[in-house]
Amino acid sequence: MSDTYLENIYLKNFRNLKEVNLDFSKNVNLITGNNANGKTNLLEAIYYSIYKKSFRKSTKDNLIFSNLDKEKYFILKSNFYKNGDEFNHSMKIEEDSKLVYVNNQKNKRFKEVKSISINPYDCHNFYANKKIRRELLDNFISDFDSAYKKSLANFSKALRSRNVLLAKFFGPEDHFQNQIKVYDKIISENVYYLLHKRFEFIEKLNPILCKTFKNIFREPLELKAHYESCFDKNSSKEDIFNFYQSGLSKDRILKTTKRGLHLDDLNLSINNNYCHEYASIGQQKVSFLSILFAYVGYLETTQKITPILLIDDISGELDSLCLDNLLKYLENKQIQVFITTANLEFASRINSIFGSKHYLVEQGLVTELEYESRRSSL
Ligand SMILES: Nc1ncnc2c1ncn2[C@@H]1O[C@H](COP(=O)(O)OP(=O)(O)OP(=O)(O)O)[C@@H](O)[C@H]1O
Ligand SMILES: [Mg+2]
Repeated sequence: MSDTYLENIYLKNFRNLKEVNLDFSKNVNLITGNNANGKTNLLEAIYYSIYKKSFRKSTKDNLIFSNLDKEKYFILKSNFYKNGDEFNHSMKIEEDSKLVYVNNQKNKRFKEVKSISINPYDCHNFYANKKIRRELLDNFISDFDSAYKKSLANFSKALRSRNVLLAKFFGPEDHFQNQIKVYDKIISENVYYLLHKRFEFIEKLNPILCKTFKNIFREPLELKAHYESCFDKNSSKEDIFNFYQSGLSKDRILKTTKRGLHLDDLNLSINNNYCHEYASIGQQKVSFLSILFAYVGYLETTQKITPILLIDDISGELDSLCLDNLLKYLENKQIQVFITTANLEFASRINSIFGSKHYLVEQGLVTELEYESRRSSL
């Protein structure tokens, strides 16, 4: 059984979920129901109770049940366990205020539990958008390394200031040059740190990634992640500073920083061919799932963290062998999983996993199905 899990959630007025109170399995939790009934909303509520933000690009106004005239708030109360310790986490979010309690203490940060959200949009966006790939890499590392997160924020702030200066400066030339040097110094310190952390992370992730791809999906192919940077792996702070300074004349003409760490990329390859150019749709999906599962393995082995998996609607495009292997992986993983599907065949396979629980979502109401009624509902 997983050492980190959500035991219970109570929620009120969260999107279309009026009032829900559920106890969960420590292992696999299946959430079924027809389209637009509230399955993803339930996953979102779990994610929100961990990160205090949504995995969708939405404002908090959209999160409050919209059909209510009087009650303009939502409530989330959750009970997590980690290595035997209990964490009660509750929040009430009104239209423009946020109150969060962890173990009954107001506004305490909740860092004990991590979660990974897996859904088809992220898979599509990963291959379509370089910025999303970069963000995934940054989110992976930031989620367990607060120094990385801080350095990334410092880098972004200095880069923004540099760009403002490039776009708007009208003073004496020596003032401009001196100010840019100040920013390039801050940028190079942080780039040096971030660059090494990114290379180090990908280096450690790759053996897990290759193994995950082969083990889960039984593919005799080599899947590899590549961190592609404009900087050499062994660049010194001075090299990085000189790189930004040497691009300055072009940056001045274009009024923004045109080269640098902010444009680096993360790519996946199968047998040394880029996935986005070479792999089938199914292989692309499997590769994307593999990098997320490899990250789970990375967290477990190097950080001693067991994240909770929130898997939304991923059965599309995967053949039955892939789905079976995926379920075998989840069953053996000793990790808490929430998995939604509107696909009854896939649901019946998940339903047969030992120790799993099954919830049916119908028009915003969620009911746990007992074992006997599970079979007849599928
Ligand atoms: N703030 C809100 N108040 C009321 N209803 C909302 C709110 N936000 C979203 N909804 C509605 O909640 C419904 C369920 O959405 P959800 O994404 O959870 O569906 P789903 O069960 O995951 O469906 P699918 O199988 O199509 O993915 C949608 O009809 C959506 O319009
Ligand atoms: Mg959904």
